[in-house]
Amino acid sequence: MTFRPPKGTDDILPPASSRWDDVLVSFDRLATAYGYEPVFTPIFESTEVFERGVGENTDIVGKEMYTFTDRGGRSLTLRPEATAGVMRAHLATGGAGVAKFYYSGPMFRYEKPQAGRRRQFWQVGIEYLGQDSPLADVEVIEAGARFFTEIGLPALEVRLNSLGDAASRARYRDVLVEYLRDHQQSLSDESQRRIDTNPLRVLDSKLDRDVVAGAPAPVEHLTAAAADHYAAVKEYLIRVGVEFREDPRLVRGLDYYTRTVFEYIAGRLDAAQDAVGGGGRYDGLAETLGGKSVPAVGFSLGIDRIMTALSGESPPGCLDVFVILADETLQGDAFEYLSRLRRAGVSADMDLGGRSVKAQFKAADRRRARVAAVVGAEWAEGQVTVRDMVKGEESLMGADQLIGAAGGLA
Ligand code: HAM
Repeated sequence: MTFRPPKGTDDILPPASSRWDDVLVSFDRLATAYGYEPVFTPIFESTEVFERGVGENTDIVGKEMYTFTDRGGRSLTLRPEATAGVMRAHLATGGAGVAKFYYSGPMFRYEKPQAGRRRQFWQVGIEYLGQDSPLADVEVIEAGARFFTEIGLPALEVRLNSLGDAASRARYRDVLVEYLRDHQQSLSDESQRRIDTNPLRVLDSKLDRDVVAGAPAPVEHLTAAAADHYAAVKEYLIRVGVEFREDPRLVRGLDYYTRTVFEYIAGRLDAAQDAVGGGGRYDGLAETLGGKSVPAVGFSLGIDRIMTALSGESPPGCLDVFVILADETLQGDAFEYLSRLRRAGVSADMDLGGRSVKAQFKAADRRRARVAAVVGAEWAEGQVTVRDMVKGEESLMGADQLIGAAGGLA
C-alpha cells in the first residue's frame, strides 16, 4: 500500500526541489542585502492571534483555519499567514524601536484545492516594524519587485492602492455601506451578508462586478494625512524605478491593512490565482493584538505560484562535477578524489553501485551535472577526461586542475 500526500499538499521532489531551493536562497540573499534579519516563529499559534490579527470576518478566519484543541485544552491554529505571528513575537520583546524581519516557511489554509491554491503552501516575506515613513513602504515594494527581477519572473505587474488610515477607513465604510444598501437587490447572497460584517471585501467579489464598478473607492475618501502618505509612496516608487499600476478596487483578504496595499501579479498565471505576492501597511495590528502602537509594513510572496510562473524557464544546474569510474580497480582513488572536490567547495557526486560507464553518464545527465570527470586510463598520469555535459565536448585535464576550475563553473 502507498500513501499520497494529503489533499491540497505537495511533495516537492527533484528536479523541482532544487529550483525551489535556489529561489529560497535568492530571497534570503536579497532580504539580507536590504537589511532584514531572519525570524522564526511557531508554526502554530493561539487561535486568538489570528482571530484578532487577521480578523474574524475574513474568509481565512471564518472558514480556512486548521484549528485544533491540544491535550491541555488550548485552542491552537496552524498559521494561515506569518505577519500576525511576527508582530506577536515583536510585542513579546517589548515592541520597541525598529525591527526588520524576513521569514520563509509553510502556511496552512483549508481552501478548495486547485493549481495555485494549496492547503499547505510556502511563503517568504519581510516585515518592516516600527517605521511610519512612506519610504518604508517604498523599500518593501521595491525589494519584492527586485526579487522577481532577480529570479527572472516574466511579465510582473505591481498593483497599488491606499485604503487610508483609521479615520479615512471609518469615513469610507459609511459611504460604501450606503452605496451597497442602495444596490442590495443586485448583489450576490454572500456580498449582501458582507454589507454588515466586512463591506470592503465586496469590492473583491467576482460575482458582483457591475455593482462594484460603480462603487465609491477608498482613495476618494482619504484624510489629508493619508493622501500625503500615498502621494509620497507613489513619488518615491517612481524615483527608485519601480513601475506600478494604481488599482482603486484593490482590497486585501486580511483585515489588518491601513493606508498602502499592493499586489504582485504574474501575467503568466490564470487570473484567479495570478497574485504571486501581496502586502501593505498594518499600523493597527499591534494594538489589535493587545500591544502598543507599532506602525508596520510588509509583504508575503507565494512560492508555489512563483514556481508555476517560472516553469518553462530552463532548470538550474545541480552539480558541478559527476565523477565517472571507468576502471573498477580505481574505485578507492575515485572516491577519494570525490571527497577532495567536495572539500574544495565543488558540488560533486558519483554512482557507488558499480554500474556501467554508459549508465553513469546517464546518471550524470539526470543529475544535471555541468561536467563529468572520468577516472580511467589517464589516472596514472594524474589526469581525468572531462566532458562538458551541455556541449558534449571532451578534453583531458589534470585532476587537480579540475578541482580549481570547477569552483568557477557555477
Ligand atoms: P496573502 O495575500 O494572503 O497575504 O498571501 C500572500 C501570497 O501568498 C499570495 O499573493 C499568494 O501568492 C500566496 N498564497 C496565499 N494563499 C495561498 C494558497 N492557498 N496557495 C498558494 N499560495 C497562496 C498574506 O499572507 C500577508 N501576510 C501578506 C503581508 C505581509 N502583509 C503584510 N505583511
